[in-house]
Amino acid sequence: MNEKWNALEARCKACKACPLWETRTNVVFGDGNPHTDLMFIGEGPGQQEDLTGRAFVGRAGQLLDKFLAAVDLDRSMVYIGNMVKCRPPQNRDPKPEETESCIGFLREQVRIIRPKIIVCLGRIAACRLIDPGFKVTRQHGEWIEKGGIRFMGTFHPAALLRNPGQKPAAFEDFLKIRAAVDELQAEKA
Ligand code: URA
Repeated sequence: MNEKWNALEARCKACKACPLWETRTNVVFGDGNPHTDLMFIGEGPGQQEDLTGRAFVGRAGQLLDKFLAAVDLDRSMVYIGNMVKCRPPQNRDPKPEETESCIGFLREQVRIIRPKIIVCLGRIAACRLIDPGFKVTRQHGEWIEKGGIRFMGTFHPAALLRNPGQKPAAFEDFLKIRAAVDELQAEKA
């Protein structure tokens, strides 16, 4: 795995396939442990991520860490990636053509990690990976099985910073994720 993973990371870090490379400081390949059953996928790097090269290290990332900790998970137990690996200027949504030109890297990451569970953080990831009409407020926390992987869409932590009233609903989703991880661990025992 490591050789393939390192080669993919090196290719990603040199990528100039879409115009986002022109304004990036760092490519954000992802963070956490690729030897995992559980992957989280966000939208794209923000300012702090662009500056540090690490996924979810700004305020949204700190909130994500709190939600993970609340269900006894941490970054050493999960992998965290993004739909696009370079920051869209002013944190705008990635354009469909940027997502399409980047998605090959995410596909390869999924192929190498072989997660059993993928959690889409927010609309951009859920619409691209689960269902183009996905509505986070209505469909968050629902499991959808595709190609042997259980997918769930939940609130993006940046959306929770804007709408803290949705945090209890997000916590319910994280409890479901924890239960699914426990099931996997019981199967392996
Ligand atoms: N928001 C995202 O979607 N991804 C990050 O890495 C940081 C903030």
